Amino acid sequence: MAMLDINGLSISFGGLHAVDDFNVTIEEGQLYGLIGPNGAGKTTVFNLLTGVYKPTEGVIRLNGQDITGKSTVEINRAGVARTFQNIRLFKEMPVLDNVKVGFHNQHQYSTLTGILRLPKYWKVEAEMNEKAIEILKVFDLDKEANTLAGNLPYGKQRKLEIARALATDPKLLLLDEPAAGMNPNETEELMQTIRFVRDHYKMTILLIEHDMKLVSGICEELTVLNFGRVLAQGPTAEVLKDPAVITAYLGE
Ligand SMILES: Nc1ncnc2c1ncn2[C@@H]1O[C@H](COP(=O)(O)OP(=O)(O)O)[C@@H](O)[C@H]1O
Ligand SMILES: [Mg+2]
Repeated sequence: MAMLDINGLSISFGGLHAVDDFNVTIEEGQLYGLIGPNGAGKTTVFNLLTGVYKPTEGVIRLNGQDITGKSTVEINRAGVARTFQNIRLFKEMPVLDNVKVGFHNQHQYSTLTGILRLPKYWKVEAEMNEKAIEILKVFDLDKEANTLAGNLPYGKQRKLEIARALATDPKLLLLDEPAAGMNPNETEELMQTIRFVRDHYKMTILLIEHDMKLVSGICEELTVLNFGRVLAQGPTAEVLKDPAVITAYLGE
């Protein structure tokens, strides 16, 4: 059974068909690219997938479960986590706490235990700190655990966002232009990290990018969106040879 199965997904804003009859099937453990020029509808697909928008048509299935029209919280609990095109961190909080926020969709202790600071509270806190440090190590951020998130350089803030998304223990990780604003070295390093995350956590990852060259190196399969419609879809090598794709990306 596919990890993610989207069928006939559509949404319009006024007369604009932002996403029009979108179909995709992603298998467990895949590193899958959703690419296309700015305004193609990529972020709208994520917003539909995570319950920010309700589709006018179509069905979204996660491991066979119909999640169409469910709330963002329900979809997160079902195992979908995302990062945003514009960084959303708690900038006044330390790096470690930003990751720990991700754990709070899993109930670790009762509210009363938390308020009274009972022994269970301290035990769970210690476990959470340890788990958060483990995740930070993957992103080479463990030494900055106590730094305020807002004081990290831009590239590290981007990595911290992914670390926090991972803390929710997702089955499916959605990354919206994670390399936006990064320099070429940071971008190359990030791509290696994304590949590592997929291998290490056996994660299924759907990666949005507008720069095709960036994802073609790490994604096994791609969907190219253009004006809300699928322009090409399939194994990366085949998509890159598709005349429609070459025409759309000519000059880039
Ligand atoms: N909430 C909204 N209201 C009106 N138009 C929107 C809304 N969200 C997205 N759009 C439009 O849908 C199209 C696709 O946007 P988006 O999904 O953000 O593109 P991408 O992420 O591929 O750059 C754009 O023309 C955008 O202006
Ligand atoms: Mg976008």
